[in-house]
Order: sequence, then structure tokens, then C-alpha cells
Amino acid sequence: MKLVGKNALVTGGSRGIGRAIALKLASLGANVAINYLRNTKFAEETAAMIEDKGVKALAIKANVAEEKDVDYLFSEIEKEFGGTNILISNAASGVLRPALRLKRRHWDWTMTINAGALLYLLKKSYPYMKKEGRGAIVAVSSLGAIRAIPNYAAVGASKAALESLVRHLSIELAPVGINVNIVSAGVVETDALKHFPNRDIIIDEAKKKTPAGRLTTPEDVAEVVAFLCSESAKMIQGQRIIIDGGYSILA
Ligand SMILES: NC(=O)c1ccc[n+]([C@@H]2O[C@H](COP(=O)([O-])OP(=O)(O)OC[C@H]3O[C@@H](n4cnc5c(N)ncnc54)[C@H](OP(=O)(O)O)[C@@H]3O)[C@@H](O)[C@H]2O)c1
Repeated sequence: MKLVGKNALVTGGSRGIGRAIALKLASLGANVAINYLRNTKFAEETAAMIEDKGVKALAIKANVAEEKDVDYLFSEIEKEFGGTNILISNAASGVLRPALRLKRRHWDWTMTINAGALLYLLKKSYPYMKKEGRGAIVAVSSLGAIRAIPNYAAVGASKAALESLVRHLSIELAPVGINVNIVSAGVVETDALKHFPNRDIIIDEAKKKTPAGRLTTPEDVAEVVAFLCSESAKMIQGQRIIIDGGYSILA
């Protein structure tokens, strides 16, 4: 599995699962651009870690919910790399509270970032992928797309919309050699969990109920993403691969 000569964009690649994906793609030889929302320090650290693997890195502050930011992101990528063969839509945000306490602006914010961003990112990536006759797109989802999780109504619905978008994109893009798939993870101990009011319970439950006996790590997710970006996976289209050590299969 080699990605030498490929250019990747990992949204939200500065920390957590996105960082692990960025480092894995870099270790396989791809140049990697990451973007982030606020924390420049993490982004600079990750860019240095990518460069340590002997490939080019870019770290760009750009909100994936804003088209003008995404335009800027791609103008920087095109200047440095020419374009992207690999697009990992990983950045996510969202309001965590019971559905009855959600306001319209919470819903809009969550849906725009988690479900809406991929479409515009794709529009900007597409011309280069089409010219190359090959591309790989992976969206990072969660079990909330198919299960009900307390406080997760808006994020779960946004991930379900994202997964449906992937399935529709996959049939539109397969004819030009672009495969589009989903990875969905069980509980992964990243900063994102700090926003859950019941974080400790979530982690304890996941540890107890995972047949594999441990939590999923960012690196577990990154391994599968790298496979989906490789030539070995080019006939996999519109699929969701769940990485959770068996947690979600248990009755
Ligand atoms: N952690 C879990 O248990 C888990 C489980 C299943 C799926 N996932 C999914 O995995 C993905 C990564 O989650 P994580 O836990 O690694 O999150 P994380 O540690 O909170 O990192 C989030 C990343 O996204 C960036 N970001 C957030 N909003 C953004 C925006 N509007 N525009 C650009 N960048 C933005 C952040 O930048 P800043 O650092 O600047 O804020 C950061 O780089 C998400 O799609 C999440 O839903 C996570």
C-alpha cells in the first residue's frame, strides 16, 4: 500500500482522528494538507510531524462550513501541490443536548459542518481528480448515524445525512474513477469526548462492552482510511466500514 506522488487533504487533521489519518497517509508517501478551525498550535505540530516523514505538509486555518474559507484552502493547496487526489472529510462539530432543547441555529450549525461541507469540498477537489482519472474520498462518520445516543440528536442526524450523501456521490463519481466511502468509529478517546456531559460513563461502557477488550484508537481508524485510499480498494464504492472492535454488533 503506497501513496507516493499523491496529494491528500484531511479536514480537521490537526488533532485526534484527523491527525492519525494525516500521519498514516504521510507515512505511505502522500503529501498532506490539513485544515483546522481555531487551534494553530496543534496544526503546526501536526505539519511538522508530517514533514518528518519526508513529504510536503500544509496547515491552513479554514472553516469547512464557509465557502470562502474552502476557496482559500484550495487556492493554497493548488499553489503548493497542484490539487488533491485524496479527500478525507473528517472535521466535525455540533451541539450536544437533548433534541427538545435544540434551537434552529444549533441544528443549522451542526448540519452545515458535518453534512454540508463534503459537497463543497468535493466540488473543489473534483477537477484535479477528474483530470487524473482517479480519486479517493472518505467521510468520517459515527455510530450515531445508525444508533440513538443520548444528547446526540443533531450530530447523529448530520452523520446520517453525510452517509446518504456518500452513497449518492459514489454512484455519480464511480464512472470517473473516484471512489467514495465511509469509515465509522466506535468511542475514540479524543478531545471531542470532553464536550459530552456523560464522558466518563461513555468511556467505561465502551470499554466494558467492546468484544475486542479495548477502545478504538485514532490509529485503528487511520489504517482503514489508508486502505480505502489505496489501489487495493478501488472497487469499493459507497460502503460504510465500522471500526469498533465489535461494539455495535453485540446485541
Ligand atoms: N472521538 C470519537 O469518539 C469519534 C467516534 C466516531 C466518529 N468520530 C468522528 O471522527 C472525526 C474526528 O473526531 P475527533 O474526535 O478526532 O475530533 P477532535 O479531536 O475534536 O478534532 C476535531 C478537528 O476538527 C477541526 N474542526 C472542527 N470544526 C471545524 C470546522 N468547522 N472547520 C475546520 N476544521 C474544524 C478541529 O480544529 P481545531 O483544533 O482548530 O478546533 C480539529 O482539527 C469527526 O468526524 C467525529 O465525528 C469521532
